[in-house]
Amino acid sequence: MPSVFIKTYGCQMNERDSEAVAAQLVAKGYTLAKSEASADVVLLNTCSVRDLAEQKAINKMKNLVGTARSEKRDQIVGFMGCMAQSRGQELIDKLPDVDLVLGTQKFHRAAEYLDELLAGTRKKIVDTATEAKSEATIREHLLNGSAKTSVSAFVSIMQGCNQHCTFCIVPATRGEERSRTIPDIVAECRELVARGVREITLLGQIVTSFGKRDYPLLDGKSAFVQLLDAVHAIEGLERIRFTSPHPKGYGDDLVAAYARLPKLCESAHIPLQSGSDRLLKLMHRGYTREKFLGIIQKLRQAKPNIGIYTDIIVGFPGETEEDFEQTLSLCREVQFDNAYIFKYSPRRDTPAAMMPDQVPLAIREERNERLLNLVNEIAARKYDAFIGRQVEILVEGPSKKNAARYTGRTRCNRIVLFDGSARHQGQLMDVKIERTGSFTLYGDPAVVNL
Ligand code: SAH
Ligand code: F3S
Repeated sequence: MPSVFIKTYGCQMNERDSEAVAAQLVAKGYTLAKSEASADVVLLNTCSVRDLAEQKAINKMKNLVGTARSEKRDQIVGFMGCMAQSRGQELIDKLPDVDLVLGTQKFHRAAEYLDELLAGTRKKIVDTATEAKSEATIREHLLNGSAKTSVSAFVSIMQGCNQHCTFCIVPATRGEERSRTIPDIVAECRELVARGVREITLLGQIVTSFGKRDYPLLDGKSAFVQLLDAVHAIEGLERIRFTSPHPKGYGDDLVAAYARLPKLCESAHIPLQSGSDRLLKLMHRGYTREKFLGIIQKLRQAKPNIGIYTDIIVGFPGETEEDFEQTLSLCREVQFDNAYIFKYSPRRDTPAAMMPDQVPLAIREERNERLLNLVNEIAARKYDAFIGRQVEILVEGPSKKNAARYTGRTRCNRIVLFDGSARHQGQLMDVKIERTGSFTLYGDPAVVNL
């Protein structure tokens, strides 16, 4: 049977899509290749959020086809995902060796198209059409890959985003918001738990908008909170997480869910983007600095130890030094556990790319560095505050770097390394944090688990 290698760029949604495609191909008899060079088929699952991510995948493809040619190997190669969706046929015009371009609503067609390409009945396939109900087709899991994936799984609950932030290409690559049904998602989660999964992360581009059109408010609860309730009721499931939410989705019902649902981990990745109200408006984010601060305050009231993570863009068009300082001051005020900082990257056909006053790269880089220094300083202090604390971790498996060490995650989503063994795999256990490394905590289980 033909073998396939899938390389993934970008976010957790992409990781999940790749896993589902791999699982669908395995079910059709394909095997998973260990390396690109040994594979009959190589698929690059792409990201379009920043130009750099697109360039990486394009360069990778050039290398792949160059190597295959020089070694006179027949290999089917394809792009799938966000860049495939936004560039379509243009990718084959630019790289004529590419055989397949598979859009974000067509992942479930991968096996059918690869069969045709391998059999030679078709030479090139580009499919970036929209497809009703495609949001419900990302449901197969591999789970037998690494040990880690059998403990914790991602479940895609919706596709697309209607927010149309002016910098963001995602609404174009992922389409309109489309949600799966609650029973369908719960059934998938139940199957996962029956296969040994103990932690589930619900995924979507804007999960807090889940099911808005399909499920009216129920006892003041939004559709997303209704989904959290339904997943929470699954016996044997220990932990629930979700990503990515939108700040406007943090109503009182969601804040209350953190206090009410013990399986919902006290960790939140809430994209901020900017601390300046003027910029938030230009970005079409739909909240103010004050509103954002209010959400953080309420979440910390509900769960004092909640881990709060964010995304920030520096150098959005028109960003002045004063705007940027607003972002710095907000970071000082909130004290994020960590923040992912992005230099603004103009994306095609987005309103921001056409705005005047694009910020020169040198300034974007300078602001990136200043913000990174602040964020890292706060993050390091937050890490150090863990020393001496006892925390509950879910053990995922051996550490990639050092097999004698095991790795687990705290409820607030920090990685903890400890001297463990196979018997710890999949266990919830308490460890005492002894020291910190860069973005890692080192724990000792012996102190508390005799
Ligand atoms: N809610 C989405 C956001 C997708 S993009 C999700 O997580 O799927 C992830 C992050 O990339 C955004 O939060 C934003 O900080 C950053 N980003 C998006 N578009 C960008 C652009 N044009 N330039 C720089 N960073 C960008
Ligand atoms: Fe992008 Fe804004 Fe949606 S960042 S994914 S348009 S919430």
